[in-house]
Amino acid sequence: STKAVILVGGPSRGTRFRPLSLDVPKPLFEVAGHPIISHSLKAVAKVPGLREVILVGYYDETVFRDFIKDAGKEFPHLRIQYLREYQALGTAGGLYHFRDAILKNKPERFFVLNSDVCCSFPLGEMLKLFEEKDAEAVILGTRVSNDAATNFGCIVSDAHTKRVLHYVEKPESHISNLINCGVYLFATECIFPSIRSVIKRRATRPRLLSYPSSDNLDSSFIAEDDDAEKPEVLRLEQDILSDLADSNRFFVHETKDFWRQIKTAGSAVPANALYLQKAWQAQSDELTPPSAFIVPPVYIHPTAEVDPTAKLGPNVSVGPRAVIGAGARVKESIILEDAEIKHDACVLYSIIGWGSRVGAWARVEGTPTPAGSHSTSIIKNGVKVQSITILGKECGVGDEVRVQNCVCLPYKELKRDVTNEVIM
Ligand code: GDD
Repeated sequence: STKAVILVGGPSRGTRFRPLSLDVPKPLFEVAGHPIISHSLKAVAKVPGLREVILVGYYDETVFRDFIKDAGKEFPHLRIQYLREYQALGTAGGLYHFRDAILKNKPERFFVLNSDVCCSFPLGEMLKLFEEKDAEAVILGTRVSNDAATNFGCIVSDAHTKRVLHYVEKPESHISNLINCGVYLFATECIFPSIRSVIKRRATRPRLLSYPSSDNLDSSFIAEDDDAEKPEVLRLEQDILSDLADSNRFFVHETKDFWRQIKTAGSAVPANALYLQKAWQAQSDELTPPSAFIVPPVYIHPTAEVDPTAKLGPNVSVGPRAVIGAGARVKESIILEDAEIKHDACVLYSIIGWGSRVGAWARVEGTPTPAGSHSTSIIKNGVKVQSITILGKECGVGDEVRVQNCVCLPYKELKRDVTNEVIM
């Protein structure tokens, strides 16, 4: 059988997702009307014979309780549980720590998914390659521009056999534009022994920091990345994948479909657009039918109140109880729960936080990022600014005020025009 593990991380990792992560754990933030992790869960639920999903992270026990309860109703054939690391153990440390739970019922293989990616999750195709090649591991890869590649794990593969020849996590200089999507399929009998041998190797070659006297050492002896130096922290990417590439049974499935990382708060906007487009292609009945005022794809929660003369879309999600007034224009944006957009306001490339208010004739806008870009910052007049405007929870924008390329922390009132600022 097959299982799935979703790596949900923990509170400290979500800092780049501010200000949105101040009010909701990143994996539960809603894009295209559903929490980020429910999009991965939906894909996992379609894998034939897959009955068990384990969320691994270091958020509080209670964080995923309601989500798991709801997901259990939506996918009655799945057993979903959350296992909490006592501290951040790294992307492989958590797997190893909870190996007994993963190995229970003796699955032959299991998927591992980073929770912060937006993608079509072609898990069936990965499974097919896995079986065809009798693989130890299959990684999902995608092509990005040469500039973007070094921000990710890079894969050098044999184009013909699809075998992974080299794997380097965030290399200093260009080695390949085929990158790690953060989705894997591992043979249970291979991955745990690989992790164990890394642990053994470390034990026989102890690092400076593990000596009790390290407190007295000159600080220059202490590695910059102190996370990685904690003996319990094991990173799939740096510690395990490059070893796996030395075996002959590590393969890559290259997806031609969409893929995006959801790191910064602004990246929720392109993720929202991609998932809405996917739902549109699948002719999902959750989406609002097109009309003179609706440019698809648009998702409107059934409890939201949208004036029939407001023009929405493309790529707009409107959350529960949000109110959108007459003559408003909303495009490429996420309007969260209880937010209000007054009449004739304009919202473009933005996220409007929970309970925020945008005044009449106001203009809240970001800037479109170039297609294929994997970043949410742009250079404007020689300075790096956020391409997406984000209002945190319960912010207010006055009537006729213009907010452009700004990030606004919760509970702020904007009474004058602002551009390229972080409002704290
Ligand atoms: N449970 C748990 N414990 N999860 C973790 C931990 C941990 O200690 N650390 C990170 N994660 C989760 C994060 O929540 C995220 O979903 C995923 O693991 C990867 O996060 P990072 O470790 O921050 O890596 P990254 O996002 O910079 O890069 C990874 O993903 C890229 C694709 O999005 C790497 O796998 C890259 O190679 C890859 O290209």
